[in-house]
Amino acid sequence: MNKYKLPSNSAMLKKDFTFGVATASFQIEGGVSNRLPCIWDTFCATEGKIADNSNGDIACDHYNLWQQDIELINSLGVDAYRLSISWPRVINQDGSANQEGINYYIQILDALLAKNIKPFVTLYHWDLPQHLEGNGGWLNRETAYQFKEYADVITKAFGDRVHSYATFNEPFCSSYLGYEVGIHAPGIKGKEFGRKAAHHILLAHGLAMPVLQKNSPKSLNGIVLNFTPCYANTEADQAASDYADQYFNQWYIKPLFDKAYPEIINTMPDWQQPDIQDGDMDIIAQPIDFLGINFYTRAIYTSDEDEIYRQLPPPAPITDIGWEIYPAAFTSLLTSLNELYELPPVYITENGAAMADTIEDDKVSDFDRVNYYQLHLNAVNDAIEKGVNVVGYFAWSLMDNFEWAEGYLKRFGIVYVDYKTQKRTIKQSGLAYRDLISNR
Ligand code: BGC
Repeated sequence: MNKYKLPSNSAMLKKDFTFGVATASFQIEGGVSNRLPCIWDTFCATEGKIADNSNGDIACDHYNLWQQDIELINSLGVDAYRLSISWPRVINQDGSANQEGINYYIQILDALLAKNIKPFVTLYHWDLPQHLEGNGGWLNRETAYQFKEYADVITKAFGDRVHSYATFNEPFCSSYLGYEVGIHAPGIKGKEFGRKAAHHILLAHGLAMPVLQKNSPKSLNGIVLNFTPCYANTEADQAASDYADQYFNQWYIKPLFDKAYPEIINTMPDWQQPDIQDGDMDIIAQPIDFLGINFYTRAIYTSDEDEIYRQLPPPAPITDIGWEIYPAAFTSLLTSLNELYELPPVYITENGAAMADTIEDDKVSDFDRVNYYQLHLNAVNDAIEKGVNVVGYFAWSLMDNFEWAEGYLKRFGIVYVDYKTQKRTIKQSGLAYRDLISNR
């Protein structure tokens, strides 16, 4: 298969549905000498943390190649481009604005706008300035206030150039992977840390929302959450799976809409609890203009005496990063969130697959990825038909890039990157995306 098909009456084919591609600063930019160090620089420099011992010093060299990359984005015909801002590139250590860094992004935003591509800006996609980590990072409540200041400086500087701001990308990853199991930067491990970090990140989101609404009243302002729906193979495992769902998924969304953490918080020992101060839950539950949802896979759980839940190995078919391909979970995730919460308009801000791509005669025939996208586009369409207000979809990712703890070993792009030459080649999945968009 080399084309994507949606039913001819699909809402996704209407003019007002947004199709885009997404990236993140640390994963593509490089340009390390033009910014302050971040926690991922430090993590990469630590022995044994990154599968191929690589780092983000050069990545896709987007710092230098941004103009040709915008041409590339434009050639795909997308309506929108989701990028993130590197906090340590735009704010100096004393908290003042770094004009050189700000100008770097302003020229990108202006170039996108000149081509009629809507900029979707994420303020935090994991690259916390290292000096803030030195003060405790997300375990320190003060970092939430620093984030609010950063959001203020940036939104004032960018003016009305931005179509949509997301405060955070995937608080789950920053807090759980970064501060509880330590497989992401800053690599801190311990059940006493994960919930505390998550609370400060959600607080930072809530503190920044009114700033975004004030400084950028016309943009759609919200947050991006990731979900890995939880399943059980047997009735007996259902409770374990429900617990995991509260721990990994609902933990980050419920405070936004219900001003409360899931009920399992009442069964967690004190030392694992977040430090919730009076008024925090009201701050966190600021109204948002949109919710960004990232979906890749599901997880199956069984009960476990020590940990309550234990994840089972994913059944086939799996992608190159070992994640099961299970699009039905995408539809039911969207419909169930729609039942549980009063959702604002939803953007699918990430969806995609790592595949072991090869390039031959300047072609990447990634039909397995084409297939993944087809299944997941259908899954989104099904959710819309069932009444979920999904108004946009972003492919992750525009191009192959630094895949965090996996380094450059896993390729998620719809564009292939040859890291030796920095040559970009649109894969079959990207060509099919372009055709879907242009044939609307
Ligand atoms: C992140 C991306 C990442 C992708 C694939 C998401 O969790 O936002 O930065 O590359 O998943 O792992």
